[in-house]
Amino acid sequence: MASAVQEPLSEKERAQRGEQLRANGIVIRTYDIWKTYVMGDQEIHAVSGVDVEIKRGEYVAIMGPSGSGKSTLMNLIGCLDSPSKGLYYLNGNLVSDMTDDELARIRNKEIGFVFQTFNLLARASALHNVELPLIYAGVSSAERQERAKAALRSVDLEQRMLHKPNELSGGQRQRVAVARALVNHPSILLADEPTGALDTQTGIEIMNLFERLHQQGNTIVLVTHELDIAMHAHRVIHIRDGKVERDEAIGR
Ligand SMILES: Nc1ncnc2c1ncn2[C@@H]1O[C@H](COP(=O)(O)OP(=O)(O)OP(=O)(O)O)[C@@H](O)[C@H]1O
Ligand SMILES: [Mg+2]
Repeated sequence: MASAVQEPLSEKERAQRGEQLRANGIVIRTYDIWKTYVMGDQEIHAVSGVDVEIKRGEYVAIMGPSGSGKSTLMNLIGCLDSPSKGLYYLNGNLVSDMTDDELARIRNKEIGFVFQTFNLLARASALHNVELPLIYAGVSSAERQERAKAALRSVDLEQRMLHKPNELSGGQRQRVAVARALVNHPSILLADEPTGALDTQTGIEIMNLFERLHQQGNTIVLVTHELDIAMHAHRVIHIRDGKVERDEAIGR
């Protein structure tokens, strides 16, 4: 997909473009984004000129060999990092120009993250882990509990909400992480190798959960290097050497 509009754009044009994307239900739109790391006298283009468009309600898998730039791209999409070059609109907001503080704010509001290794607080109960993003968002204690319980219910873990991570199975831990990602009602759920640390059967259970969340209207982007996991999504973007090699719809 080529960038439709030439840079540089005026501030007004940039804002108009954001409004247009939002009106068209486009949650993610990158225009020729790059991420370049400088290591001594060497430049590594981890992401090199990616144009990607993802609509509200889509379920997308990003696939590619090790080192092809999947995690780097996810970190850009998830506002954990800023592109070296190019424009990125998240839900109509031009995030590629934002400061770290602004990025942190928009990330907490718009993005739910799920990681390969769960990243839960070891000493905190499932309920407390799910409440955390709401604490950062300044939600009152009573409302936090209510919403965290509802999120745990949505992943069928209501019965385990007082368990700590080491009192849960791998699949249950990942479900806590999914509940935590969803508790803020983000625009998009991002998952980097969410089944990578799970056995095959538990991985399938997590994929079934993702399918249900997708059917409920959530927008999901996941990274995987396993084809059978990617086939659960409805669209697969293949990345190679930091570029989009192929973008295909999965027929059902
Ligand atoms: N912080 C960094 N500094 C320098 N180079 C980096 C950095 N992070 C990633 N890279 C390089 O950028 C390229 C893409 O890395 P990335 O982690 O995005 O790959 P990946 O597709 O997620 O791989 P994997 O499947 O192994 O997780 C690699 O060549 C990597 O060595
Ligand atoms: Mg990776």
